[in-house]
Amino acid sequence: MIETTTPKTQAEAQSPESPGAAIELTGVAHSFGDLEALAGVELNVAPGEVVAIVGASGCGKSTLLELIAGLAEPSTGSIAVGGERDAAARLDACAWMPQRDLLLPWRLAVDNAALGLRLAGIGRAEARERAGGMLERLGVGEFARSHPRQLSGGMRQRVAFARTLLTGKPVLLLDEPLAALDAITRAELQELLVETLAAERRTTVLVTHDVEEAFFVADRVLLLSPRPGRVVWSAASPVDRSEPRASAVTAPAFAAVREAALEALAEGRG
Ligand SMILES: Nc1ncnc2c1ncn2[C@@H]1O[C@H](COP(=O)(O)OP(=O)(O)OP(=O)(O)O)[C@@H](O)[C@H]1O
Ligand SMILES: [Mg+2]
Repeated sequence: MIETTTPKTQAEAQSPESPGAAIELTGVAHSFGDLEALAGVELNVAPGEVVAIVGASGCGKSTLLELIAGLAEPSTGSIAVGGERDAAARLDACAWMPQRDLLLPWRLAVDNAALGLRLAGIGRAEARERAGGMLERLGVGEFARSHPRQLSGGMRQRVAFARTLLTGKPVLLLDEPLAALDAITRAELQELLVETLAAERRTTVLVTHDVEEAFFVADRVLLLSPRPGRVVWSAASPVDRSEPRASAVTAPAFAAVREAALEALAEGRG
């Protein structure tokens, strides 16, 4: 499954300025058979807030996103998105972008981007027009009529991100969206992410292995402990979003919080 695309009214799907919905997790634990993936996760994300989650491989980050998205129910505890605890309602509120772009190889970039709109019942011409506009905005407008195999990794990520945004859902769950990109493309897409999230005001949970990326993109960064994951450390980002990336990530306050996070990770807290 790619983004969650439960049908909704056109008016809902067309509202690009969704204010975001609160996410609330209380005492969430999740096991796969005997394997405890998450234990006692407490998490509150305010409407429109951008939170990054960092933690060792296998500590349950993807599981956490899948639970929030309503793809599964936690073994214990409760999860509410926009005040709704029901898995189907969570599924309806969340757009999920997995690490791999999962574009359909036989579809043009513009039709891949338009997928969520088409599934929401919007006609082909209108869906294409809106998808084309979003690709333009994300800097890949000229590749709208290319197939995914003709695009670089960074371009494919932009198309996948366009598709996620176009669902119009109030919550974005981004699972390592920039993993496997080269440093320059990654920095460029981090800036794009910041600009887009500022304009869209969606509630966002970003999973990343990159502490610098976490503090650059998110309002708040949380560390999950090694499995079973729970939130063991958090800090607000000191970044002034109007600053260019190069000066933001070299500011002393940024270096201090990045070091503190890396120390917590190294201590095995995260
Ligand atoms: N469907 C599943 N069935 C059984 N075990 C699973 C399943 N999904 C995840 N796990 C296990 O749960 C734990 C957490 O997995 P998860 O994918 O959430 O980790 P992660 O933090 O996202 O890791 P990574 O950083 O490598 O992506 C791992 O030990 C994993 O093997
Ligand atoms: Mg993962």
